[in-house]
Amino acid sequence: MKLSEPRILAALPELGVERIGGASLAERTSLGIGGATDLLLIRRHSALPDLIALLRGAGVAYKFLGGGTNLLVRDGELPWVILQLARQEPEIRLEGNSAHVGAAADLGRTVTFCAKHDLGGMEGLIGVPGTVGGALRMNAGAYGTQIGSYVRQVELFRAAGVRIETLRENEISFEYRHTSFAPDDIMLAVKLELPSKPYREILQGIRICNEKRRSSQPLNQKSAGCIFKNPPGGSAGRMIDELGLKGFSVGDARVSDRHANFFVNAGHATCADMLSLIAQVRDRVHATYGFQLENEVILWTQ
Ligand code: EPU
Repeated sequence: MKLSEPRILAALPELGVERIGGASLAERTSLGIGGATDLLLIRRHSALPDLIALLRGAGVAYKFLGGGTNLLVRDGELPWVILQLARQEPEIRLEGNSAHVGAAADLGRTVTFCAKHDLGGMEGLIGVPGTVGGALRMNAGAYGTQIGSYVRQVELFRAAGVRIETLRENEISFEYRHTSFAPDDIMLAVKLELPSKPYREILQGIRICNEKRRSSQPLNQKSAGCIFKNPPGGSAGRMIDELGLKGFSVGDARVSDRHANFFVNAGHATCADMLSLIAQVRDRVHATYGFQLENEVILWTQ
C-alpha cells in the first residue's frame, strides 16, 4: 500500500516518523516471505498516539512489525502499512538488578549485555531471534526460561485507549507462548529484574544453550522458529518427525530435516506454499494423534 493521504504525509516529519516506500517484508522477516508496502519507522514513542489517530481517521489499515522472526506474511502488494520502532540509544539502562530495555532492542544482545554486567537468568533465551518487544508479546521461552518470569513493568501503547500506559507485573499474565496483552497493543519498553550471577557462570550457561540449539535446530536456514505450539506435555516436533514428515515439502516450503517443527524456506517459497505445508502437516497430525496443533507462527496472510 502506498500512503497517499496528504494530511498524513505532511504530519510525519514533525512526528519524527520516517516513511520507507515499498519496503519488502521478504527482506524483513526471517522466513524471507512477504510482499511490499510502505513502512513507517517511529523514532519517538510519544508520537504513536497521534500517528495512530491519524491513520485511523483516514481509514488506513496498519500492522506493527517487531523483529519479523515469528511471522508469515502474504505475497504481493500488502493492503496495510507497517509500523516499526526505531532502535533507541541507549537501548538498555541498568539500575541495580533492574534492566530498562527498549522494545526494539535485539533479545540476544540484551541477554549478553546484562550478562557482562553480572545479571543472569535469561541464558536460555540466548538464541531466540527477534526483539525484546516480540519476545514479551509472545512470552518467548527456551530451555526452561520464559521472559515473562523477569518482567516487572511494561510500557506499551494500548490500541483501545489510543494512549501509552504502564502495566505492572500483577496486571499482566504470562503463560506458555501467550500473554494477556491485546493483539493490537504495541510494546514500547520493559523493566526486567534479573538475578546477580558472575559473568563466567552466565557465559557457561549461554554456551550450553547455544550448543543444544546448534545441534537440534536449523539455524542457518530461513525459518520462523517453531511453526506450532507444543501440545500440553508433548512435542509437536516429535509428532511430525514420527510421521516421517521431515523433508516433506510444498514448493520450496519444507519441513526441516533437523527439527520437524521448523518449516524452512529452502529457496523461493511463497506464502501459499508455506500455508499449504502448515495445513497438510496439521491434518496429518490430527488424523494420527487426534490433536489439532495450534500455530505459534503469527499469520499476516489475509
Ligand atoms: N524431537 C524429535 N524430532 C524432531 C524434533 C524434536 O524427536 O524433529 C524430540 C527431541 O528429541 C526431544 C523432544 O522432541 O526429545 C523435544 O524437542 P526439543 O528439545 O527440540 O524441544 P521442542 O519442544 O521441539 C521447544 C520450543 C523451542 C525451544 C526448545 C528448547 C516450542 C513450540 N518449541 O521445542 O522454541 O527452542 O523447546 O527449549 O515450544 C520456538 O518457540 O520457535 C522454538 C524454537
